[in-house]
Amino acid sequence: MEDIIDEIERLKKERKAIILAHLYQPQEIQEIADYTGDSFGLSRQAAGTDAEVIVFCGVKFMAETANILAPEKITLLPAADATCRMFTDSLTGEVAQMRREKPDAVFVAYVNTPAAVKAMADICCTSSNAAAVVASIPEDKEIVFLPDGNLGSFVEGETGRKMFCWKGGCPTHMGLTEAQLAEAKAKYPAAPVLMHPECRPQLRAMADYVGSTTGIVKYAEKSDAQDFIIATEEGVMYELETRCPGKKFHLASRHMLCPNMKKTTLEKVRDALETLEPRVVVPQDIREKSVAALEKMLAITGK
Ligand code: 13P
Ligand code: SF4
Repeated sequence: MEDIIDEIERLKKERKAIILAHLYQPQEIQEIADYTGDSFGLSRQAAGTDAEVIVFCGVKFMAETANILAPEKITLLPAADATCRMFTDSLTGEVAQMRREKPDAVFVAYVNTPAAVKAMADICCTSSNAAAVVASIPEDKEIVFLPDGNLGSFVEGETGRKMFCWKGGCPTHMGLTEAQLAEAKAKYPAAPVLMHPECRPQLRAMADYVGSTTGIVKYAEKSDAQDFIIATEEGVMYELETRCPGKKFHLASRHMLCPNMKKTTLEKVRDALETLEPRVVVPQDIREKSVAALEKMLAITGK
C-alpha cells in the first residue's frame, strides 16, 4: 500500500499544488509542507505562488486571505471546520455599526478576521507588521484597531499612538497566567522569555522579546542564550528545535494549544488533494472590497 506521504507527494505534483502550513500546525503537517511560516509569510507565499492549487494547513481566515490574494487558484482548507476563536459571527455587524459611527477613522483589521470584516477595513496587519502599519497612518487620524485588544495595546506601546482598541483576544494566548510564567522563570532563570503579542499586557511586561511567531524563531536563532522560555502556541517548538539544534526550548505553559490548528491531519490533506475539496471561496463582492486592505498591508511591509 502506498504510504500516505508518498500519496500526498504524488497528488501534489498531479494537481500542481503547494502546501502552506502555519507554524502552529501539528509536526507531521509542518514536515510535509512546502512552506511554513507566520500569517504574514503565508499570505506573501499565497500572493506569489505559481501553483494552481493552494492547500492551506491553518485556520479559515488564513485560507480566505489566500483566496482573496490569489482568486484564480483553488484554495483548499483540509480541516474545513478550523476557525479562529478570536472572533465570532457578530463581529461583522459590530464593525459595520462602528464604521457608521466613526466615518472618518482609519480601520485597521488584524488578518485574524473574517473576509467580510476585511472588506470594511482600510488596511490589514499581522502580528509581525502591526506597528509598521499603524505608524504609516497620518498622525491626525483616529484609528480603530480590531479585533485583538492585546495586540492593540502592544502596538500602542510600540508606536506611541492612542487607538480605539476592540476587546477581542485569543483564548490560547490569553490563558497564560502570571503564576505559570513565574514558575517557568524560576525553573530557568537564565532563559529569555519570547512571547507572542496576543498575550496579556501584564504577561508581556515579564517578557524579554515580544513578536510574531516568525519573530520568535529569528530571535532564538540569533541569540547566544542556550535556553529559552516560549510563550506562544506549542506548534512553534518544532521549528525552533529544527532551526536551533543544541538550544533548549521550554514552554511557558503546557496549555498554550490552539485546538483548531490541530484539526489538520495527513489523511485530510491527502483527501483534499484527491477531491479538490473542501474549498474556500470568498464571494466576489467581498473579495473585491477586501483585497485593497490586504494589498495596502503588503505594499507597506514588503511584497
Ligand atoms: P502570527 O501572526 O504570528 O502568525 O500569529 C497568528 C495567530 O493566529 C496567532 O495566534
Ligand atoms: Fe486564533 Fe488564537 Fe488559534 Fe491563532 S492561536 S488561530 S489567534 S485561536
